[in-house]
Amino acid sequence: MSNNWVQQHRRDYYYRKAKQLDYRSRASFKLIQIDDRFDILKEGRSVVDLGAAPGGWLQVAAERIGPEGRVIGVDLQPIAPIEGTMVETIIGDVRKQETVDRLLYMIGGKVDVVLSDMATNISGQYAMDHARSIELCDHALAFARKTLVPGGCMVLKVFEGDMMRDLLKQIRASFREVKLHAPKASRSSSSEIYVIARDFKGEAPPRPQAAPVNSDRC
Ligand SMILES: C[S@@+](CC[C@H](N)C(=O)[O-])C[C@H]1O[C@@H](n2cnc3c(N)ncnc32)[C@H](O)[C@@H]1O
Repeated sequence: MSNNWVQQHRRDYYYRKAKQLDYRSRASFKLIQIDDRFDILKEGRSVVDLGAAPGGWLQVAAERIGPEGRVIGVDLQPIAPIEGTMVETIIGDVRKQETVDRLLYMIGGKVDVVLSDMATNISGQYAMDHARSIELCDHALAFARKTLVPGGCMVLKVFEGDMMRDLLKQIRASFREVKLHAPKASRSSSSEIYVIARDFKGEAPPRPQAAPVNSDRC
């Protein structure tokens, strides 16, 4: 990490705000802004957060869904316990079946929301970073398809690039409403964007006739 990077980071508005409010990462504000706009983290919901370390999104999810809800985070890195909450965490690689099986066992049913802020270390090579991001999104989507309740929703970070079109096509096959959103808290230099996918169609392949109205949808 260069001195320049550290200095810029310290000057960053959201970095300082996160410190003031005891959030573990500036990324917390991205989820706050997404949720303020799309109202995903309603009280009492169950949420799985993929790529959750150090835990900024977990803190926001726990605050917003309250004590009746459930939040489970998974990451390659350990996540320190989030004091005063019932947040559960596991260490694991979302690309591995054993991690997915552990998560499914912990969930023991279906969830309302799947979040993914997963990202690998940025190489600076645009095509490589995009390809890695798409790979993680494919795993997150596969996980969401297995675990979401019909009507459930997913928030997915992706680094933009030419494979996005195909990813969005796959997401649209499983969700009735798909939007792209760039929260203000994303750095202007970043190519990240968030896919907000709502109203999961359910595990069954899409049917030609209109789906029944689901009042409990995201
Ligand atoms: C940008 S950080 C997430 C920040 C988090 N949303 C927060 O608010 O604190 C991306 C995370 O994705 C995790 N990650 C990357 N690849 C992963 C994988 N294959 N399985 C699980 N986690 C992964 C990284 O370890 C990293 O902690």
